[in-house]
Amino acid sequence: METKILQTTENDIKEAGRIIRNGGLVAFPTETVYGLGASAFDPRAAKKIYAAKGRPSDNPLIVHVCSETQLSEVVGEIPDTAAKVIDAFMPGPVTIILKKKTVIPDEVTAGLDTVAIRFPLDKTAQALIREAGVPVAAPSANISGKPSPTKSKHVIKDMFGRIDAIIDGGDCAVGVESTIIDFTGDKPLILRPGGITYDDILNIGAEVDIDSNILQLIDTDKTPKCPGMKYKHYAPDAEVTVVEGEKKAVQNKIKELLTENKNVMAGVLTMNGADYDNAVILHAGSTNKEYARNLFSALREFDELGVKIVFAEFCEQDAYGLAVKNRLYKAAAQRVIHV
Ligand code: TXA
Ligand code: MG
Repeated sequence: METKILQTTENDIKEAGRIIRNGGLVAFPTETVYGLGASAFDPRAAKKIYAAKGRPSDNPLIVHVCSETQLSEVVGEIPDTAAKVIDAFMPGPVTIILKKKTVIPDEVTAGLDTVAIRFPLDKTAQALIREAGVPVAAPSANISGKPSPTKSKHVIKDMFGRIDAIIDGGDCAVGVESTIIDFTGDKPLILRPGGITYDDILNIGAEVDIDSNILQLIDTDKTPKCPGMKYKHYAPDAEVTVVEGEKKAVQNKIKELLTENKNVMAGVLTMNGADYDNAVILHAGSTNKEYARNLFSALREFDELGVKIVFAEFCEQDAYGLAVKNRLYKAAAQRVIHV
């Protein structure tokens, strides 16, 4: 398939909107990661998304809207806490799960009677959805299992030749996917940590819990109980190990590991920029916010540089750290060393 590379001009966005309206696939920037979009009203287009990504068909898509009015057209009743979250954080890096209306076909929600909805902040994303004239179903625009794309070159690498068009919208500001909150159970539940933190949500007076699968993944280096969590996600080809703890101890441990592995091409993802020898060093940034922005891109870069094993420092625990740690642990398929 011929893939068009489009820019963020009015004309190009109009063209992208037309492609989506006519059942095609367009990758587009959002403030979190690039999405792979199709009309959320078109079951055949949804199927094409699964094929292009190699995504298992039991994994539902997020429906992207460009206004609260459009949101209300695809969901059933909006509970009070969800309304609070919409008021405070939409548009923004958050996704809410609500009961769906029948206009959203089963192919989009993988047969569930609920739908995940996101109103992105990114201006290009908003313009595209407006031009398409329909809500846009979109997962992250990576091959299934690979790190989510945060730069247009990542999308081109994974999707060129597989989809109709890619809008080049520069780098994504947040860098990890949206926070997902499920409002269809007894109490709102964070299913995936992201750009809007648990503290942000508590601060607007909304009561939420954090899914125990996230916490199990974070709190233990043993095999997690939830079967779905055992699969590698966001994984580069290189084998990633997270080294976690106080800064100095983390650095010493990684130095030791580099010595043990001196015959392998090794990389270090650092927060502090320590003086590691014999390793490709990439800087994640000194805060978790920066770490989030750089993480997926760095994982892809290690592969490009031919690095075989990566040691990722993790030293900071703050509200934003949960989103970073969640992706790191998955990229590392649970190889975590606590020091
Ligand atoms: O920031 C983001 O959320 C990005 C951008 C493109 O918007 N999208 C994204 O989509 O990360 P994806 O498909 O990579 O991740 C969506 C997650 C999946 O883990 C899926 O299982 C979950 O959302 N999900 C979607 N609909 C759901 C539903 N009705 N119930 C439970 N989980 C759902
Ligand atoms: Mg994804």
